[in-house]
Amino acid sequence: MSASATAALVYGAIPIFADIEEEYYCLDPRSIESKITPRTKAIIVVDIFGQPYDRDAINAIAAKHNLYLIEDTAQAPGAMLGGQYAGTLGDIGVYSLNYHKHIHSGEGGIIVTDDDALAEKLRLIRNHAEAVLSAKGISDKSELVNMVGFNYRMTEIEAAIAREQLKKLPTLLAQRLENTAYLNEKLAQVPCILPTKIREGAKHAFYVHPLQFDAEIAQMHRNRFIDAIKAELPPTLLREESTVLLSYGYVKPLYLQPLYQEKIAFGRDGFPFTLSDVTYPKGLCPVTETMHYERLVTHEFMRPGMSRSDMDDVIHAFEKVWENRDELL
Ligand SMILES: Cc1ncc(COP(=O)(O)O)c(C=O)c1O
Repeated sequence: MSASATAALVYGAIPIFADIEEEYYCLDPRSIESKITPRTKAIIVVDIFGQPYDRDAINAIAAKHNLYLIEDTAQAPGAMLGGQYAGTLGDIGVYSLNYHKHIHSGEGGIIVTDDDALAEKLRLIRNHAEAVLSAKGISDKSELVNMVGFNYRMTEIEAAIAREQLKKLPTLLAQRLENTAYLNEKLAQVPCILPTKIREGAKHAFYVHPLQFDAEIAQMHRNRFIDAIKAELPPTLLREESTVLLSYGYVKPLYLQPLYQEKIAFGRDGFPFTLSDVTYPKGLCPVTETMHYERLVTHEFMRPGMSRSDMDDVIHAFEKVWENRDELL
């Protein structure tokens, strides 16, 4: 998601992209290690689709190189690894409360950290860097500090909604897991669709249900097969304009988007990219590209609110296309 990388640009830092794991789609520790330079300051991992990142390997890399570890948990609230919540695995965890997420309050988000100094900095960033916290006994600073802040404040009303939503998270998550298990079991009848793998010791939160397509088994390109399934299904009610909640791939690899290709983030002169010799060529992250353009299939038919009969329609569409694949060939 674009924000995971632009977060660095906002601070004048230059995003360097590491590749992903073939099975889990999170950052691959081997790729991260190969990208670290003396100028590296932090690693931003994304618990993509709801799967926690490889905590042990990546935290060890961060510790070895003295880097901060920021966990983008927007897609994985309630996910766990080794009994620990996603979002609490690194130095800072970030959750989103936008309308599309597991729980939401219209807009807003939550940041967690167990580092008091970072917590204070984050509170300042969200409030124009004005130290308004002394009155509450949170900080002993009472004057403006030497940093740039923003207005990232949620309203009290959104926060009140979010607190109620948080109580519903376990139930909503359980529904996602139950629906995903049902779809995984039924889609196992379709040989060219390979089920989601879950990291050992992890609980997945299934913001998206990722599947892999085996073109050799199907004897055709993924997109042809998925287009045929889409043609079998109606648009989702109230999201008619986005048609069917099924896609090949996910978002285009970020570094192939114009921001990175043209290196225009701020102003006309390429800041901050011109401070280094960074390039973002096609092929930079081969696994990411293969997944997006060839193998990955993502859908959201496991969302709470999807009934068994809705899911049966989806399963039927997959089976029908598989059984009649000769016609597509
Ligand atoms: C992985 C990831 N990071 C960050 C965000 C941004 O969240 P927000 O829109 O609440 O800022 C999203 C939202 O879609 C996301 O999926």
